Amino acid sequence: MTVAVIGGGAMGEAVIAGLVRSGREPADVIVVEQRPERAAELAQRYGVATASEVGAVRAAEAVLLVVKPADLPALAEQLGGQLRDGAVVVSLAAGIPTTAIEQRLPAGTPVVRVMPNTPALIGEGMAALSRGAAVTDDQVAAAMDLLSACGQVVEVPEKQQDAVTALSGSGPAYLFYVADALIEAGVVLGLPRATARQLAVQTLYGAAAMLRETDEHPTLLREQVTSPAGTTAAALRVLDAEAVRAAFVSALAAAAERSAELAAAMAR
Ligand SMILES: NC(=O)c1ccc[n+]([C@@H]2O[C@H](COP(=O)([O-])OP(=O)(O)OC[C@H]3O[C@@H](n4cnc5c(N)ncnc54)[C@H](OP(=O)(O)O)[C@@H]3O)[C@@H](O)[C@H]2O)c1
Repeated sequence: MTVAVIGGGAMGEAVIAGLVRSGREPADVIVVEQRPERAAELAQRYGVATASEVGAVRAAEAVLLVVKPADLPALAEQLGGQLRDGAVVVSLAAGIPTTAIEQRLPAGTPVVRVMPNTPALIGEGMAALSRGAAVTDDQVAAAMDLLSACGQVVEVPEKQQDAVTALSGSGPAYLFYVADALIEAGVVLGLPRATARQLAVQTLYGAAAMLRETDEHPTLLREQVTSPAGTTAAALRVLDAEAVRAAFVSALAAAAERSAELAAAMAR
């Protein structure tokens, strides 16, 4: 399958790197990028084919749109008439509904919408995909297979995309925030900054790996490190008193609300 990636920015590069790393022939990946120096950089780094005009997508069975949301409507208008029969359009632009893309493409064009996240850059992304009106099960499966080169992929109804944006889309930022707080706390307690960083990062990584590998409920894993009247119990009592759990619920609700506002503005 030939894949075209339109937009060779940060997320575009993550997808290109994933596709090549997962064994796809670099010559079967066409990167359409309007900045020639960036296109040359990607060609040199990954061995992919590059083009400056969207007409290059005629060769592709899957066309990934990885431009900023504000650039997407104009790009979709340009794409109409350039797509080959049966090519699936995969949009990674945050907040743009499938209907807004479909309206700008020839009737019946198969479209899927995806919310990725930045750990895709290292092959540990979490992407959620929603199908448009004209896409077939086989095309959805092909899109999921392509995206799995950058991490895990789930399918969700499109109405859940605001919640997805709030949880996994913005999620890395919350965990970087927690990491920063843990490091600062370690420094306050007298640890050298480099040591505090190593302890915080490996603890986050180890805890995430345990959650994934054991498939246990987080409450159970937390109870396993909470001995009666011990140090962890003392810390958790403070987190509860500070309403940290409730703050996370409110924070995600705020992110979902903002995502819906942005999507409504984009759909206009
Ligand atoms: N980065 C993330 O963490 C993240 C997470 C989730 C979702 N996303 C989504 O991924 C998309 C891309 O984000 P990004 O951070 O990679 O943006 P970016 O770094 O700005 O990359 C977009 C690239 O596409 C190029 N471009 C724009 N219009 C084009 C066109 N018509 N033809 C060819 N190339 C074109 C841009 O060139 P110019 O610079 O010349 O405009 C730029 O190189 C966004 O829609 C965003 O919502 C990103």
